[in-house]
Amino acid sequence: MCGIVGYTGPRQAFSIVLDGLKRLEYRGYDSAGIAIVQQNELHVFKKAGKVANLEAVVADHDVSSHTAIGHTRWATHGEPSDKNAHPHYTPDGQIAMIHNGIIENYQTIKNELLSKGYEFKSDTDTEVLLYFIAEIKKNNACSLEEAVRIALKRVVGAYVILLIEPEHPETIIAARKGSPLVIGIGKGEHFLGSDASPMLAYTNEVVYINDYELAIVKPDELILKNIGNERVTPYVQKLDLELAAIEKGGYDHFMLKEIMEQPQAIFDSMRGRLDLEKLTITLSGIEQYAEQICKANRIVIVSCGTSWHAGLVAEYLIEELCRINVEVEYASEFRYRNPIINEGDVILAISQSGETADTLVALENAKSKGAIILGVVNVVGSSIARLSHAGAYTHAGPEIGVASTKAFTAQLTVLELIALKIAYIKKSIDDDQYAHLLNELNAVPDKVQAILDSQIPKIREIARKYKDARDFLYLGRGYNFPIALEGALKLKEITYIHAEGYPAAEMKHGPIALVDENLPVVFVATKDRYHEKIVSNIQEVKARKGHVIAVITEGDEVSKQLAEDYIEIPEADEIVAPILSVIPLQLLSYYIGVERNQDVDKPRNLAKSVTVE
Ligand code: F6R
Repeated sequence: MCGIVGYTGPRQAFSIVLDGLKRLEYRGYDSAGIAIVQQNELHVFKKAGKVANLEAVVADHDVSSHTAIGHTRWATHGEPSDKNAHPHYTPDGQIAMIHNGIIENYQTIKNELLSKGYEFKSDTDTEVLLYFIAEIKKNNACSLEEAVRIALKRVVGAYVILLIEPEHPETIIAARKGSPLVIGIGKGEHFLGSDASPMLAYTNEVVYINDYELAIVKPDELILKNIGNERVTPYVQKLDLELAAIEKGGYDHFMLKEIMEQPQAIFDSMRGRLDLEKLTITLSGIEQYAEQICKANRIVIVSCGTSWHAGLVAEYLIEELCRINVEVEYASEFRYRNPIINEGDVILAISQSGETADTLVALENAKSKGAIILGVVNVVGSSIARLSHAGAYTHAGPEIGVASTKAFTAQLTVLELIALKIAYIKKSIDDDQYAHLLNELNAVPDKVQAILDSQIPKIREIARKYKDARDFLYLGRGYNFPIALEGALKLKEITYIHAEGYPAAEMKHGPIALVDENLPVVFVATKDRYHEKIVSNIQEVKARKGHVIAVITEGDEVSKQLAEDYIEIPEADEIVAPILSVIPLQLLSYYIGVERNQDVDKPRNLAKSVTVE
């Protein structure tokens, strides 16, 4: 959460940083701010709310400058307000700082500073760290870089910080632990960002900063050091990202664009991996650890939110196809409950951003106990990707809409590939089934396209009909149970309508009490081994006057007769069906959100990358 941007070089820094903040707004939009150095003076502009509010505030100001740092906030300490917005600055106007992360021991440090007479303008942990750094600089008569290094040795928590000072108007000091920081290398200029999107228009050469590293960034020079003040050689990587991939491209919202991109994202996640002619799957990272995976007593999947739902599908897949015991854990629970991890256990992390704090720490703990860490991650070079021993990237491309869509279906695709690869090596499925499933998977992008081409008008109609509902129930069985959970989560996020997902058979153990003539119930009722059972569940809801919306397999006349509204998806093996059945649910949430005039790309209180626990 929180996005940070910085620039130093010959161009106008303010507008580069402002544009960068717009690209990073998905990381939080409680407030935005920019600090610049102008004629050896610090100027800070900040405003509660979205970046557009900040833009309005600075409209009449002279913001010319060649060095700037900017921040878009997802509030942790202190309510979203002007005073809590970053950048924070010292009362003498000599240092400005932005921060992404949480300083856990900020209260102890604050108490010390209060006893020395410091007064705080905000409720943030960031201002505490800033004053602490300023105090160290004053007492030691040292450079800002040195003061930062000394301060960070005392800090417990996660951070990326950027600091500027008028004394050295062209220099940005940056440091990282636990939150992401990328530095873009230009000609006589440098760019800083929480991810590479703010710098994509200018350079494709970047350095990913590691934990406990500190950077001294000047237009012509990038000096990287560790916290012990030793020089570290920056490892420059080439970015394989196009600017078009992070722009809306004519769609009203990123969410819709990303839903529509799913055929490509799924195809890209299989490209070069699935070879139908040779009937092979190539996943070099996984192959490296194939022996350990095949022998594993269990695989523990660790993730959060939508990625956790992908993990639930993977549990069914891996247990069924590979006959390996799988447990799916919320990373936030796993990291704190002292789980039993034995050497040789395989931990599989699933994460779009690769930066989710709970997942990251859960993995660090498991790694230190000897587990093998595999990652299914979308953001190349992210912290989880780098921490994993091996893995397989999803190739969904940048996902900007806060609600995850294409990253989820890309995760499912890669998890299918992993399960099939291991099943093939273990010989836990026969050759015919293997060949059949490879063909089924290969056909998914076209089938997703068919849903997008044919079902949107109907889904829009359903969205209009139910836009004012107070609650929704989502039900599914087997592989479609996690999809029911995902459908409910999408609806909550985007529309703020309360929704619950359940295994359909569980309905009788409680949720059925909710069913009356006001309740829409979404059944994910595609043709699979449970079909007759879920048809009975539909009858049970109808008998209580609930409104049935069913996602069904094309040509399923029985379900068509029963459902009040239905959305058809192409026939598919139940093992790949979840990648299809989730598409109508994403669209339903999207269109209900649009009908309710919600900001679907930036739902309230949420952020794309949850880098705080
Ligand atoms: C929901 C959503 C979140 C994320 C969760 C994990 O639409 O996007 O629930 O899935 O915050 O994030 P990653 O996958 O980045 O670890």
